[in-house]
Amino acid sequence: MKSRWYKDAVVYQIYPRSFCDGNGDGIGDIRGIISKLDYIKSIGVDAVWLSPVYKSPNDDNGYDISDYKDIMDEFGTLDDWKEMLDGMHARGIKLIMDLVVNHTSDEHVWFVQSRNKDSKYRDYYIWRKGRGKDGKKPPNNWTSNFVGPAWEYDEQSGEWYLHLFSKKQPDLNWENPELRQEIADMCNFWFDLGVDGFRCDVITYISKRDGLPDGKRAFPLIGQEQYVMGPRYHEYMRELNERSFSRYDSMTVGESIGITPDNAVESIDESAGELDTVFSFDHMGVDFKMNVIPVKFNLAKYKKVLDRWQQLPKSCQPTLFLENHDQPRCLPRFSGDYGNNREKAGMALAVAMLFMRGTPYIYQGQEIGMTNCAFEEKDYKDIMAIRVFELIRKIFPPLMPYARKVMLKRARDHARTPMQWSDGKNAGFSQAQPWMMLNPNYKQINVEDNESRSDSLLNFYRKALAYRKGKEVIISGDFSLVRPKDKRIFAYLRTCGEQRLLVVVNYKNKPVKFNLPQGLTFTRAQLALSNYTDLPTLSSQLRLREYEAAVYELY
Ligand code: GLC
Ligand code: CA
Repeated sequence: MKSRWYKDAVVYQIYPRSFCDGNGDGIGDIRGIISKLDYIKSIGVDAVWLSPVYKSPNDDNGYDISDYKDIMDEFGTLDDWKEMLDGMHARGIKLIMDLVVNHTSDEHVWFVQSRNKDSKYRDYYIWRKGRGKDGKKPPNNWTSNFVGPAWEYDEQSGEWYLHLFSKKQPDLNWENPELRQEIADMCNFWFDLGVDGFRCDVITYISKRDGLPDGKRAFPLIGQEQYVMGPRYHEYMRELNERSFSRYDSMTVGESIGITPDNAVESIDESAGELDTVFSFDHMGVDFKMNVIPVKFNLAKYKKVLDRWQQLPKSCQPTLFLENHDQPRCLPRFSGDYGNNREKAGMALAVAMLFMRGTPYIYQGQEIGMTNCAFEEKDYKDIMAIRVFELIRKIFPPLMPYARKVMLKRARDHARTPMQWSDGKNAGFSQAQPWMMLNPNYKQINVEDNESRSDSLLNFYRKALAYRKGKEVIISGDFSLVRPKDKRIFAYLRTCGEQRLLVVVNYKNKPVKFNLPQGLTFTRAQLALSNYTDLPTLSSQLRLREYEAAVYELY
C-alpha cells in the first residue's frame, strides 16, 4: 500500500495567512495559494505542507481549531480548498495538511459541550479539581508553552481544565476511546477528499503521565517531562496509524518535541507502524539555550547534532529543515554577518541541507532569502511574543530591554511577515494593508527580482532541486562528515556503491582554506553544483571563497 514516495520528495511549507492574499482583505488565503501554484511547481518541490486552514478563532493563527472538517472563513471555502487540491495534483504536487489534535479551540463544539459536567464530552478534555481548601489552586504546577499556568479555572463547574498552550487551546483527553476514534475518522475524512498526508502538531504531547504529577522546577517550562512521549504515546500512535495512516499511500511527519536519535527508531522505523518521519529540533537548539536564550552558533556542534540523525538505520527517514513558521529566519542565524553576501550565504545553507539524507522542507520565503524583521514591540502579532512581553512587564520590568533584544532574534513573528512577491505595493502580497508588518527589505528581496536574475537564490534552489531528483546516492547513500571538528566548513561525503558525492560548504563570509583528509582519494572530481560562476577545481587543498558551496561527484 505504501510507496514511501516521500523518500525522494522535497516539501514546501506554506503559512497561509502570510503567503498570498487573493481577495484583497490583507490576509493570505486559499485563492492566493491557487494563484501561485505555478510558482510553487517551478521551484521543483514535490509536496506542500499547509499550516492549518480549518475553522478557527485564530488565537494561535489556526492552531486552535473550532471545526476540523471545514475551512476558516478568512481563508475561503471547502470548494476553494478542493480547487487548490486539484490544482496541486494536476501539477504533480502532493498536499500534507496540518493535524492539530493535542488540543482544540475552546470554541470547538466538543469543548463547549464539555463545560457541562453531565455531557459525554466532559471526558474529551482534561478536567480536574483544584488544590487547596477551596480548590482555587491549579491541580498541578505545570506551565503553559505560552507562559503562565497550564490550567484555567471554570466558574460554572468549579473545576480546572488543562491547556499546554493558550487558555483558548484546551488539551484533548486521549485516554477517551471515543475521542480517539473521532480523530481517526476525521483523518480519514481528509484522506478520502484526497490529501496525501499529515504534519502532526506537537504530537509527542498527547499522552500525559497518570495522575498528572507536579513537574520538576525548570526554566522556561515546568512539567514537560510529565507529558513528552508519555506512557501511552506509542500505543496511541500505532492505533491511529492502524485506523488511518496505513490505509492510504500517505506520509506523516510528527512535530516531535523531545524525540532523540536514541528513541526515534521506535517511532519512525518502517516496521514501527507509527509515523513515517519526525521533525527533531536538536539542531535548532545550537544557537538558543533552552529554546530561548541566544548563544553563539557553533558549526562543529551543529554538525555533530545533525550527524547523529544521519546515522539512523536506513529504515528510518530523517527530515531536513532550517526554517518553519515557529523559527526565526535561517539568515543570519547560521551564517553570521553576511554583509553583501546574503544570497551566497543562502545558497551555502541550501547546499549543506539539501544533500544530506532525508526529506527536505523549504519554508516560504527561504528560497528568496527572506530575513528577520526589525520589529518594535507594537509590531509583534504572535500570542507567544505578546505573552512574553506581558509577563515580563508584570513580574520584572527592568528585564524589558533584554526581552526586546531576545525577541529580535527568537520571535516566531520573523517567519510570519508577508511573503515578498515584488517591490510594488504591499510587496505584491495584497491590495490592502497586510494583517502584519511587511519586512521593509521587500524592496530588495522579492520573487520578481529573483526571477529576473539567472544567478539569484531562487534560481539556485531550482538548480539544486533538479540535480537532487532521483539520485540514489542522495536518497539512500551513507553519510559521513569530513573534518567534523572544523568550525568554518561543513563538508560531508555521501556514498552508495560506486557513487560518491562530496559536499563542501564555507559557512564564513571570508575565504577559508580546507585540506581534504589524506584517506579521501579520487582520480577525477566533477563539479556538479556551485554557487560561484568561475569554477573551483578540486585539489587536496581547497581555498574556498566567501560562502562558497560546491558539490562534486568523485570518480
Ligand atoms: C506547534 C505549532 C505552533 C503552535 C503550537 C500549538 O508547535 O507549530 O505554531 O503554536 O504547536 O498548536
Ligand atoms: Ca484574503
